[in-house]
Amino acid sequence: MRLLLDSRNENKLRELRAALPAWEIALLGAPDEPLEDGEAFVDNARSKALHGRRHAPAEAWIAGEDSGIEVAALGGRPGVESARWAADGVARLLAELDGESDRRARYVCELVVLPPEGAELRATGTLEGEIALAARGSEGFGYDPVFVPMGESHTVAELGNAWKAEHSHRAQAARALAEALRARSQTRWDSTPPGSVGCHGPGASAR
Ligand code: IMP
Repeated sequence: MRLLLDSRNENKLRELRAALPAWEIALLGAPDEPLEDGEAFVDNARSKALHGRRHAPAEAWIAGEDSGIEVAALGGRPGVESARWAADGVARLLAELDGESDRRARYVCELVVLPPEGAELRATGTLEGEIALAARGSEGFGYDPVFVPMGESHTVAELGNAWKAEHSHRAQAARALAEALRARSQTRWDSTPPGSVGCHGPGASAR
């Protein structure tokens, strides 16, 4: 299965490839940027996918991904603003939570995939955790140096990229997407009359 991700974020590409090793995933490389003014992650993921649809070949499968961090003590902020919240998001987060005992946070990832034909597929992943008192570790990206997943004592940046490929919000969304694609493929196969051309979509390559 070949999927074009409408993003310029190499970190997201690396993590989606690691989570879905059987897939061929590439950045679309559109000439302009999609609008990101939605109130929810899924709105922006869909906006990216629709933008990608306009710039990609008609037969391509397009993915839009939107993700970010929600912090309980900040009323869920920065949320959809995570990428634009501050020049240094980690420093701002540590400053805003200075002296705060409630350090709960969650990562959210939404994926919207547009097949060449048929309805969109959507998948979500979340990772619960808390914000550390100081930045630690060097892998991952964004808020990973201060995000400690629930049940862990290390930050995501310390746990590393191999850990993310298995457990992150993005890995969970990717696995849910793979499941949705399998279900779609199965449904289309089941509803195809015997003797007609039967294989559609990503499941076809697995047969
Ligand atoms: P987007 O490109 O608008 O989806 O912005 C995503 C932003 O959320 C990133 O720039 C990071 O600041 C943050 N973010 C999303 N996923 C992660 C992650 O896996 N680790 C750390 N920060 C993340």
